[in-house]
Amino acid sequence: MKESSELNTSVLTAVEALHPGEAVRHLFPFFTEGPGGCYLDSAATTQKPHSVIDTLRDVLVNHNANVHRGAYRLSAHATELFDEARCKVATYIGARSERSIVFVRGATEAINLVAYGAEHLFNEGDVILLSLLEHHSNIVPWQMLAKRRNLTVAFTEITPSGELDMSDYKSKLATLKPKMVAITQLANSLGTITPIEEIVSLAQKAGAMTLVDGAQGVVHLGVNVEALGCDFYVFSGHKMYGPTGIGVLYGRLERLEAMQPFMGGGDMISYVSVEGSGWAEVPQRFEAGTPAFPEAIALGAAVDFLNRFSRKEVNAHEAELVKHAIDTLRAEKGVTLHGPAVTGGPQTSVCSFSLDIVHPHDFATIADTFNVQVRAGNHCAMPTLRKLGVPATARMSFGVYSCKSDITSVVTAIREARRMFDR
Ligand SMILES: Cc1ncc(COP(=O)(O)O)c(C=O)c1O
Repeated sequence: MKESSELNTSVLTAVEALHPGEAVRHLFPFFTEGPGGCYLDSAATTQKPHSVIDTLRDVLVNHNANVHRGAYRLSAHATELFDEARCKVATYIGARSERSIVFVRGATEAINLVAYGAEHLFNEGDVILLSLLEHHSNIVPWQMLAKRRNLTVAFTEITPSGELDMSDYKSKLATLKPKMVAITQLANSLGTITPIEEIVSLAQKAGAMTLVDGAQGVVHLGVNVEALGCDFYVFSGHKMYGPTGIGVLYGRLERLEAMQPFMGGGDMISYVSVEGSGWAEVPQRFEAGTPAFPEAIALGAAVDFLNRFSRKEVNAHEAELVKHAIDTLRAEKGVTLHGPAVTGGPQTSVCSFSLDIVHPHDFATIADTFNVQVRAGNHCAMPTLRKLGVPATARMSFGVYSCKSDITSVVTAIREARRMFDR
């Protein structure tokens, strides 16, 4: 197979560079033809650029034939586009080989795939070490595995400002000797950036396998999986300007090769007889059935889109928006900030807060009347919020199209909501 470093990237250099901010909104039909407004829920899902929507349509109209099947040209071409998308993803995250890229439905499915596929590598009493910053999708599959194999799930503590407690992490690594460490790169609930390089390196030294939840990190921080050295890295297409229904499990080849298939069916076998079946090579071994190839190809278009930006500029843009949100809300009456904002710790793309007299759900409903979309609730991170002692927060989260005027609109909504509830 072709190594990802051999890919032809000339197409990428030929297109115009993009800069994050209001100026890229014209590339998103959501803003030009759709409802538009102050969309501040990009951590849940991002809006899609023309290029991704057009690619999806183009595949369905012009290249629609099942992949890995037909001897006819249409199918061969669809297969080529699908394979090319895998290479684009591999290059984007710094994977040495596209064979390390397993297409799945999203981060959730990727973690479940590891929890089932690597199940036989765990023995009774083994420990899986997570953190109190995790999304439910990086907790529940491990709890299910623990139940099946009689394992223990342990959690690294967080500080009152929602940062990972590294001394607790080191002590749990030393005392619990976990078989698997599964931790997020960037927490969706609070925007906490974890010291993922140190986390992975310490886990490796302690002899643990590592899985990094990159659902937010892949798009808001960036990653080079080879440099990071993790065993697994997972993310979802729809949070990086791609379609829903497609996501990625990156695995080091030797780790993927040691895993058992999770689902059986067509495409994942080398042979089938009435006596039994043999498995295909990695990554096809984990891609049973017809894959979501139009979505995968459109994810490749999302990667092309992201490659038009400088990673440095995107990171600076989103960090600047978070800083502006924190500074603005800190000065606002009745607002409590949650997460690293409290102490000035590392944070990006997300700002979580609550109001003194308005529940986050009520606030989100009122904000909506100003065409401001913010998320309210526990953000699928109940253990995080419980630890912080708050039942719910309101959360604004940013993308390349977000700008400071969105934050001004949030402030207008906050003042109106407090006025309505101030009796
Ligand atoms: C940090 C994190 N991990 C995992 C997930 C799960 O992603 P998906 O629902 O796309 O599988 C999310 C989604 O919000 C997330 O933010």
